[in-house]
Amino acid sequence: MAIIKSNERVGEGIFLLEIEGIFRGKPGQFYMLKVNDEYPLLSRPISIFEITEDTIKFLYQSSGEGTKILSRKSEGDAIYLRGPYGNGFPSVEGKIALVGGGMGAAPLYETGKQLLKKPAITTVDLFLGFSYELVLKDKWEKISSRFFYDIGGYVSNLVPVSNYDVIFSCGPDVMMKKMTEAGKANGVPVYVSIESRMACGIGACLTCTCHTKNGNRKVCKDGPVFLGEDIYEL
Ligand SMILES: Cc1cc2nc3c(=O)[nH]c(=O)nc-3n(C[C@H](O)[C@H](O)[C@H](O)COP(=O)(O)OP(=O)(O)OC[C@H]3O[C@@H](n4cnc5c(N)ncnc54)[C@H](O)[C@@H]3O)c2cc1C
Ligand code: FES
Repeated sequence: MAIIKSNERVGEGIFLLEIEGIFRGKPGQFYMLKVNDEYPLLSRPISIFEITEDTIKFLYQSSGEGTKILSRKSEGDAIYLRGPYGNGFPSVEGKIALVGGGMGAAPLYETGKQLLKKPAITTVDLFLGFSYELVLKDKWEKISSRFFYDIGGYVSNLVPVSNYDVIFSCGPDVMMKKMTEAGKANGVPVYVSIESRMACGIGACLTCTCHTKNGNRKVCKDGPVFLGEDIYEL
């Protein structure tokens, strides 16, 4: 059990949750969060937004029963979390573009922060698309070389794909597929972080099985990050 430090509303139905404690995790990994002993029974997968010395943060949208209950919690309340789970984004070099849509922006914060510290990385450009409003505007610029955003359109249209060595993408399937297609056309590998319903989060229940070009894989254990070309029919 851990204790919530803050659970701030940062946009329409969007919350930044901060939990006290020393946590591990690499960019693109996730934790399973649960706020209640009884209902809903299952934990919910939420990506690591940021890890600091003494807290972990999650950016989430209140979309259904579980995240609505979570959004009503506040400082001092108890929360149960397990993790870190999943593979996270791979180690890369050169010029990197991070492309996120909606809550797909969440895992890209710690990702940008970590990449910027690496000598082998020369550029980390961040492209975010939101449906209605840009959230946490002041934060994104701090973890990127350049920050571009779009409201209500297609953020993938902003990305000059051939300028990059590798692209990481997280968000709606249609966006990640488009990035994968553009990457393939330009010889640029695109890694996508995909979503799936999850129950156990540790590879035991098969709820999150997805089809890839290499056979069935578990999103919670083999993913959530895959090479886009292995996921999408292009
Ligand atoms: C690896 C991973 C990382 C994620 N990271 C984040 C994050 O950082 N921030 C964030 O806001 N959300 C994230 N999600 C999505 C989040 O887990 C779901 O929004 C959440 O489980 C919904 O739970 P609920 O009880 O509120 O909704 P439910 O009542 O269970 O469902 C409400 C709605 O959410 C949809 N939904 C439920 N589970 C998922 C799911 N796993 N993926 C997509 N849609 C779902 C349902 O189809 C339904 O429309 C992530 C999902 C995965 C798999
Ligand atoms: S959620 Fe149980 S195997 Fe992935």
